[in-house]
Amino acid sequence: MNYKDTLQLINSSIRSLQAYHLDPLETSIKLNQNENPYDWPEEIKKEIAQFCMDRPWNRYPPFIPEDLKKMVAQYAGISPEGVIIGNGSNEMILVLMLSLMNQSNRVILSQPTFTVYKLLTDGLGGQALCVNMKQDLSFDVEAIKGALIDNPGSVLILCSPNNPTGGYLSQEEIEVILEVHTGFMILDQAYVEFGGFSAISLLGRYPNLIITRTFSKAFAAAGLRLGYMLGSPEVISEMNKIKLPYNVNFFSEHVASVLIKNRTLLDGIIEEIKAERDSLLQTLRTMPFENVYPSASNFILIRSFKKQEIFDFLKSRGILIRDVSKYPMLQDCLRISVGTRQENMLLKDALREFFGVSGLNAECK
Ligand SMILES: Cc1ncc(COP(=O)(O)O)c(C=O)c1O
Repeated sequence: MNYKDTLQLINSSIRSLQAYHLDPLETSIKLNQNENPYDWPEEIKKEIAQFCMDRPWNRYPPFIPEDLKKMVAQYAGISPEGVIIGNGSNEMILVLMLSLMNQSNRVILSQPTFTVYKLLTDGLGGQALCVNMKQDLSFDVEAIKGALIDNPGSVLILCSPNNPTGGYLSQEEIEVILEVHTGFMILDQAYVEFGGFSAISLLGRYPNLIITRTFSKAFAAAGLRLGYMLGSPEVISEMNKIKLPYNVNFFSEHVASVLIKNRTLLDGIIEEIKAERDSLLQTLRTMPFENVYPSASNFILIRSFKKQEIFDFLKSRGILIRDVSKYPMLQDCLRISVGTRQENMLLKDALREFFGVSGLNAECK
């Protein structure tokens, strides 16, 4: 068979996708992926490295990482039967969509949002129905309700706090949506440790609610690829049937349990990131951007007609941010992750320099 005929055998829904891709640009200050800017301490890494030396590599990890599941359940405040651990929350979203979607199913999204939802919907041959956010980029709850009523039984995916806008859904808004929804709602709370309403308390009341969360953001472990889903035990036991066996390797499993045990080390860091975000928001609002959007997360969305010049100028200063201007509704928008205090100071200085504002190093006392 030739290449052309071979490629024709791949599902057309996959062939027509635009690949999700991020250029691996080298930079000294990396503010483009919403990671926690602080790594874990060396002593903790050494302890884990020793475990890896001692643990036989020729043996499978446990079929289900029960101990880790218990720890995650305790951290989330639910029973272990309501938890599945996965290889990043992206894997959990894939498992959910495999379980919940069928060809006739519509997937309702509130856009702009995390691009993976639409990518998976399209790739799995579903039909994405995108409800625009309001002009101020807050959730249009009335429009979401309308779409749910028009499309009973659809899968709804919402992200709160939302990437890349930074806004979140209140408890009341989530309840209002769930009251009218007759399908499943996947609520991606990858950034919830930084702000917004945690919907875990609603799981008992709404069996059609499933929450995904991650170790990649506040937990400072994006390199591990660990995430989890939370739901009612009955629903989770069904989802377990399609999850791949041994999806969590022994290294990640062990590291995650060590990180949860040491999670108090994160408390101060998360508080610092939140304070830095607020300080950054305040400073950005003094600068001549078209818009600086409120954020309950560890990143800030800005809009500027000079977005390309700003992006290039920051890059020339070793600061990499994310151009999100191709997202729907986000023309001229850039997303900036909150870095360390020092990184944020350099970012502010670089922006002041770009805009020609005086007061360079004003905060470096
Ligand atoms: C909203 C949202 N959900 C999920 C993910 C992916 O998380 P993970 O690293 O757990 O796969 C990201 C990553 O940027 C994200 O922004």
